[in-house]
Amino acid sequence: MMHFTKFESFDLGQELIELALAYKANPRIDLAKGQGKRVGCIFLNPSLRTRVSTQIAAQNLGMEPIVLNMDKEGWALEMNEGAIMNKGTVEHIKDAAGVLGTYFDILAIRAFPSLTNKEEDVTDFIFSQFIKYSGVPVISLESATRHPLQSLADQITIQENLAGKKKPKVVLTWGPHIKAIPHAVANSFAEWTLGMGHDLTITHPSGYELDEEFTKGATLEYDQSKALEGADFVYVKNWSGFNDYGKIISTDSSWMLTEKHLKHAPEAKVMHCLPVRRNLELSDEILDSSRSLVQKQAENRIYAAQAVISKILG
Ligand code: CP
Repeated sequence: MMHFTKFESFDLGQELIELALAYKANPRIDLAKGQGKRVGCIFLNPSLRTRVSTQIAAQNLGMEPIVLNMDKEGWALEMNEGAIMNKGTVEHIKDAAGVLGTYFDILAIRAFPSLTNKEEDVTDFIFSQFIKYSGVPVISLESATRHPLQSLADQITIQENLAGKKKPKVVLTWGPHIKAIPHAVANSFAEWTLGMGHDLTITHPSGYELDEEFTKGATLEYDQSKALEGADFVYVKNWSGFNDYGKIISTDSSWMLTEKHLKHAPEAKVMHCLPVRRNLELSDEILDSSRSLVQKQAENRIYAAQAVISKILG
């Protein structure tokens, strides 16, 4: 595996889940594997879980992680090929990526979408530039379109909580928010859940249809209560419009999940990638209940990252 930026195959997904669970049982079993190697964790946006879990994962493999908060501590990057850099940008992305490639054995990068330039966002332009100019393996810490380490951690969490179910009913439900939120978590969760062979239903108000590239094979149900019937896992996430790109189309608070919403899904476990806006996106009564898997998902971020780094190291 050279880069880790998206779901590749069921077999690789299953291999990574099993490796992650082995590391969870014995985190330092491969301490010698990454000795003498460095991973550069480059953040163009804020983070809590991704930042810390990736560093712990690297340290569990004996690697040295170095974090650069590029948005605050790096030079302002120019993205346009052929640009005359006589305005605010100081360093071209191809120069920065080339330099970072000489400093690190692996680069891990977070670069959110603008939500204003759809064409640039859907092609994951910043990632493609790092892959092109760094010359080293690149791990996505969340791109404009996907958040694969989160999705791998989510699949590990589902596997741990299957309770004997072979093909669980998984529901991805939109939750309200006051800000325009990227599509990456929802896209990636759909891509991985379908790829791992689960039964996926997606529910949201009209106008919030996701890019079909990620949802082909899922059931789309606009009636949230119907979608939630008999669910084994309910994944709550906000996202902004994709067709009406980056727009807030609804803030309907009746979509916020409470116990009442789950009266026909008595066994449902509830998931969210965090950070979550309590009592806006998801209620306290769900988050603080035994249904909630959110802390387990966050813990599994360590072992998802450890499995991916280990696989890249070979
Ligand atoms: N879930 C997640 O990626 O969290 P952070 O944004 O805090 O890294």
